[in-house]
Amino acid sequence: MIARKTASTKYYESHTQLFYKFDYKNKNVVLKGKKILIGITGSIAAYKIIYLTRLLVKNGAEVQIVMTEAATKFVSPLVLSTLSKNKVLINLFDDDVWANHVALGRWADAMIIAPLSCNTLAKMAHGLCDNLLLAVYLSATCKVLFAPAMDEDMWHHPATQKNVDALIKNGNILLGVDSGELASGLTGEGRMMEPEKMLIELKKIFRKDDLKGQIVLITSGPTYELLDPVRFIANHSTGKMGTALAEAFYENGADVIFISGPSVYLPEYEDIKIIKVISADEMYEQAIAVFPQTTIAILAAAVADYTPIEKSEIKIKKNENEFTLTLKKTKDILKKLGKLKENQLVIGFALETNNEIEYANKKLKEKNADFIILNSLNSKNEPFGSDNNKVTILSNKGVEFESDLLKKSKIANLVIEKIKEKILPNA
Ligand code: CTP
Repeated sequence: MIARKTASTKYYESHTQLFYKFDYKNKNVVLKGKKILIGITGSIAAYKIIYLTRLLVKNGAEVQIVMTEAATKFVSPLVLSTLSKNKVLINLFDDDVWANHVALGRWADAMIIAPLSCNTLAKMAHGLCDNLLLAVYLSATCKVLFAPAMDEDMWHHPATQKNVDALIKNGNILLGVDSGELASGLTGEGRMMEPEKMLIELKKIFRKDDLKGQIVLITSGPTYELLDPVRFIANHSTGKMGTALAEAFYENGADVIFISGPSVYLPEYEDIKIIKVISADEMYEQAIAVFPQTTIAILAAAVADYTPIEKSEIKIKKNENEFTLTLKKTKDILKKLGKLKENQLVIGFALETNNEIEYANKKLKEKNADFIILNSLNSKNEPFGSDNNKVTILSNKGVEFESDLLKKSKIANLVIEKIKEKILPNA
């Protein structure tokens, strides 16, 4: 399914690229408490592991770093031990104490070797063991990811490619190299994968399969209702809650189709299918088209309730003292899916300023939803743009759950728990 390309879609896409930045404040819960072993070898890309370490620690992981002697020439063990909050290990013997590589290899939930030099790659492929990093690698019982970094010619050399194949055959996960400027000054393939992408690859290996087989449709973000080529009516929604839901469903094993209005927040997993739309009408069409193949639909978008009856093809000029805009109602996506649903779960959101529970219950009935997630509007909670949210989940049984003010990723997981209770009887 491909979103219609309008001039404004292109404009929005270019701006999305411009403003998209890695949002690690809105960290999710997958890596919390996970034990990650990082192996660093001698490559200029080693400095980037400072940032990877920071990202992992921010995401709640426990990090232990092992380096080769050569790696210490490129990045300071002191910086890494400070950030990882653990002594960095380099030698098999330190002050007459033997580093227990077997215990380390068994301690880890995942090991990532990055940057992986051509030399260590070859040693790993042949089972050599002449330093602590290699001993830990050979002792590791967890999944091992490796991120090569070298010059293009070395990367493409048949010997290197044979070694890479051998590592993959042994069950290790290749984090493919990027293209760009290389240490030699040449441009080509061989750059180490960026730390943000490594973080995503690490999260992927902890994906659960609780919701395997579920196909989840999520609408997210605001919609833009165009008045003319330069103006539109919109709202404050950022799409952070929808994005958190999409990522949490994916992490629980579901397939996710994400229909997003104009937003810089998009799910980070490339396996999530993203359909970008602009207006309420486009969102409606895409949702209706996708709905029959889904098992769960969560309508988290703040869809415009009204759209201008007339959209000017040219810029409206400022002529009169007053300007009257006539609007018509948009189609209600949630209501339509509530009508169309067969076995699917249909879940809506509500945001009310008064009579919250009464209005949310009304929406539940009128839109034939299975749950309504009521965003709480109080002095401590500003749902638009914030990383936090506080919600009440309602069903036809009444109030099912009231959350505290929590990270949106945590709220997403609470919603998933409620859904699991409903669709997985033994959950
Ligand atoms: N919704 C939708 N399509 C619309 C309007 C709303 O799918 N055209 C969905 C929203 O995504 C949300 C739910 O309906 O899940 C409730 O949206 P909300 O704006 O709170 O309610 P409305 O039905 O628009 O009613 P009101 O604005 O009067 O509160």
